[in-house]
Amino acid sequence: MKMIATTAYRPNGITDQNAAQAAQDLGIPFVVRNKRSIEKLHAEEKADVLVAARERLEFYPLGETEPFFFHPSSSAFRTKRPIHQDPLIEVSGIAAGDSFVDCTLGMASDAIVVSQFVGAGGSVTGCESNPAFAYIIGKGLKEYTAMPHLVEAMRRIEVVSGDSVDYLASLPDNAVDVIYMDPMFTNEISESSNFRPVRTAADTGQLTKRWVDEAVRSAKKSVVLKAHFRSVDFEAFGFNRRVRPNTKFHYGVIDCRNK
Ligand SMILES: C[S@@+](CC[C@H](N)C(=O)[O-])C[C@H]1O[C@@H](n2cnc3c(N)ncnc32)[C@H](O)[C@@H]1O
Repeated sequence: MKMIATTAYRPNGITDQNAAQAAQDLGIPFVVRNKRSIEKLHAEEKADVLVAARERLEFYPLGETEPFFFHPSSSAFRTKRPIHQDPLIEVSGIAAGDSFVDCTLGMASDAIVVSQFVGAGGSVTGCESNPAFAYIIGKGLKEYTAMPHLVEAMRRIEVVSGDSVDYLASLPDNAVDVIYMDPMFTNEISESSNFRPVRTAADTGQLTKRWVDEAVRSAKKSVVLKAHFRSVDFEAFGFNRRVRPNTKFHYGVIDCRNK
């Protein structure tokens, strides 16, 4: 899908500069806004639209009028609870100082929680195959300041714009402590609304044998899958399912320590 960059409805020097920068970074055309609504831009440009608004970058896939933008999402409250009890931290066996690859970065909520937990001695890399999401989340992680207790964790996350299977294939054996996958649910969950406006733009590809094999080869401790409780992927790909009563998603773990 074609993508363009433009400014806020009422541009200023900063939105002009940020839109031009986004266009250059992403290799997409910069288009003058001319006080056009998002609907009008979609109709006339026939493209997804990235907007440099006054406070943030926003992404409007063709036909969508609710934007995708960076915000801490569930990491805001998950990092205020005892973090070692967070289900992802618990099931993964991750420890302070460990390395973590998130194969499906999305809003980066899971990556922020893990980054907070692994601390200054650890590392977190997040892959995102939608280039607009990767760009907006990458900028947000570098620039967001509204939640001071998360700033250090956000800055630690390195964003890779591209397919995580290719990224994993580039890693040596046992290069990372924990590798995580959270592909888009095929059964939509109404309360998981972060992605609702942009479901059409997210990579909806599901797990493959190559993806799991590359993750197991590259992981030292564990590979973790989050999926809908009805998903058959846990059993199909050899994950040990950790049932969480009364929740719509489960985690599954492949223990890589004795592979
Ligand atoms: C369900 S969301 C992940 C949400 C994320 N765990 C969070 O905490 O915000 C899935 C995301 O992974 C991306 N994705 C799916 N398959 C991918 C792949 N093979 N490589 C990189 N990104 C992928 C999608 O575009 C989407 O943004």
